[in-house]
Amino acid sequence: MARRDNRFVCQACGAVHSKWAGRCEACGAWNSVTEETVEADRPGGVGGGRAGRAIAFESLEGASETPPRAVTGIAEFDRVLGGGLVAGSAVLVGGDPGIGKSTLLLQAAAALGRTRRVAYVSGEEAIDQVRLRAARLGLTKARVALASTTSVRDVLASLESKDAPDVIVIDSIQTMFVDTLDSAPGTVSQVRASASELIRIGKKRGVAILLVGHVTKEGTIAGPRVLEHMVDTVLYFEGERGHQFRIMRAVKNRFGPTDEIGVFEMTDRGLVEVPNPSQLFLADRRDDVSGAAVFAGMEGTRPVLVEIQALVGPPVQGTARRAVIGWDGSRLAMVLAVLETRCGLVFASHDVYLNVAGGLRIAEPAADLAVAAALVSALSGRPVPPDAVVFGEIGLAGEVRAVSQGDARLKEAAKLGFARAFVPSGRRRGKPGDGAITVVAIDDLGSLVAQLAGGRSGARASREKSETAS
Ligand code: TYD
Ligand code: MG
Repeated sequence: MARRDNRFVCQACGAVHSKWAGRCEACGAWNSVTEETVEADRPGGVGGGRAGRAIAFESLEGASETPPRAVTGIAEFDRVLGGGLVAGSAVLVGGDPGIGKSTLLLQAAAALGRTRRVAYVSGEEAIDQVRLRAARLGLTKARVALASTTSVRDVLASLESKDAPDVIVIDSIQTMFVDTLDSAPGTVSQVRASASELIRIGKKRGVAILLVGHVTKEGTIAGPRVLEHMVDTVLYFEGERGHQFRIMRAVKNRFGPTDEIGVFEMTDRGLVEVPNPSQLFLADRRDDVSGAAVFAGMEGTRPVLVEIQALVGPPVQGTARRAVIGWDGSRLAMVLAVLETRCGLVFASHDVYLNVAGGLRIAEPAADLAVAAALVSALSGRPVPPDAVVFGEIGLAGEVRAVSQGDARLKEAAKLGFARAFVPSGRRRGKPGDGAITVVAIDDLGSLVAQLAGGRSGARASREKSETAS
C-alpha cells in the first residue's frame, strides 16, 4: 500500500510547504495554505522498473493536418478561442463567482449542440436549476445532454463509452473529485488530479473539454492558476460588478492568438454579444467635462475606443493619493513624473485618480498620451476637445513615440464620428479610411500641453495635417 503523507499546500499557487504558514512564501497569498493528504511518491524514481525504450525522434517537416474546429456561432467566443473550439483541446474558463461563466458555457453548449454532441456536467447545481437557467435563456429546445455529478470516475466512464460527446462542459472543476485521493474537492491535489484525468481522456478520445474554474481571493479552494499549464487554452471572464459588460480574454492559447477579447453584455436573457464595443464604452460619455480623453486602443486585431478619466484633487498636506482603476499604477507614476519634469506641471501635492470607463483593463503603452491628456485637462479644468481621440506612447524624455496599427485606430475613430486625432508624429502616413479625420501630430508632451491649452501657439507647436479618405 502506498504511504500516506500530510503536506501543507498553498491553494493559490500549489507550492508545498513542510509546515503550516499564514502566508505562502512562494506566491505571497495569505491564508491559502491548507493541510492535504497525499500519496507519497514512489521511492526509487526511474532507477528501478523496466528499462526505457529509445525515442524515435522526428523532423519538424512533415504533414500534420490543422485540427478541426467547432464554430460555436457566438462570434465573440469563437474569436477568443482563435476561430472555434479545437477537437480534443482543453479550455479553462476562469473568473470570479457570479460573473457569468455558467451562463456563457450553457449558451455555448446550446450553440454547439446544433452540430456536435454536447454534454454539460454541473457539479454545483441540480439538473432542475440548470433547466431553469436554460428556460430563462430561451434554450429549452437545445440539444445538450445534462448531468449533475461530481465524480470524475463517472465522467471518465461516460467519455469512454461509445456514445461519448464531442464536447463536454465541466462546471466547475473545483467541485470534481477523484475517489482515490483523500483530500477534499477543491483542494490543489483534487483539482489537479481531476483535471489531468479529464484532459488525458479528452485528448485520447478527441473530446473537447471546457473547464469552469472559480477564482477566489480567500484561497479556500484551489484557483484556476494551478491548472493553467495543463490546459491548451486559458480564458478569463472579467467585468466589474455593477457594470453589465463582461470581457473574455485569452491569456494562453495553443491554437490561436492571446490578445483577442470578446465583449458581452449581461442582460436578463443571458449574455449578448457586443460586436461594436467602442459604442458601448463611449455610451455614457459627457463631452463638456474636464479630465476625460478618448483613447483609441487596440484589443488584439480590433480597435476599441474607450474613455480615460482623470481627477486631480485640491492640494493636500502630506502624501497625496494616487488611485488607478483599469490601468497600471506604475505607468501612471511615470506619466506624472514626465509631465512634472518636462512640462513643469505640478501634481505632487494633489490627489490623482485615474479610471478607465466601462470596466475595461488597458495594458497598452499607447494609452500614455491619452492618460496625459486627461491629466493635463483635469489639472487645467479645460476639457479635451470632445471630437478628438488620443493615442501614443510617452518616453522619459517627454517624447511621444509611434505605436502600431495607427491606421486601424484612426479608422475606428472616424467611423464613430471623431473629427480629430492627437497622435505621434512618427506615425506612418496612411489613409484613415471612412470619412475624414484631422491628424494633429504631437512630437512631445510639451506640444500636447500647448494643444490642450488652445490658441495658435498650440497649433504652431505641432504640425497639423489633414488626411482625407480616398
Ligand atoms: P452565472 O453564470 O451563474 O455565474 P458563474 O457561473 O460565473 O458563477 O451568472 C450569475 C449571474 O448572472 C447572476 O448574478 C445572475 C446573472 N444573470 C443575468 O443577469 N441574466 C441571465 O439571463 C442569467 C442566466 C444570469
Ligand atoms: Mg456557475
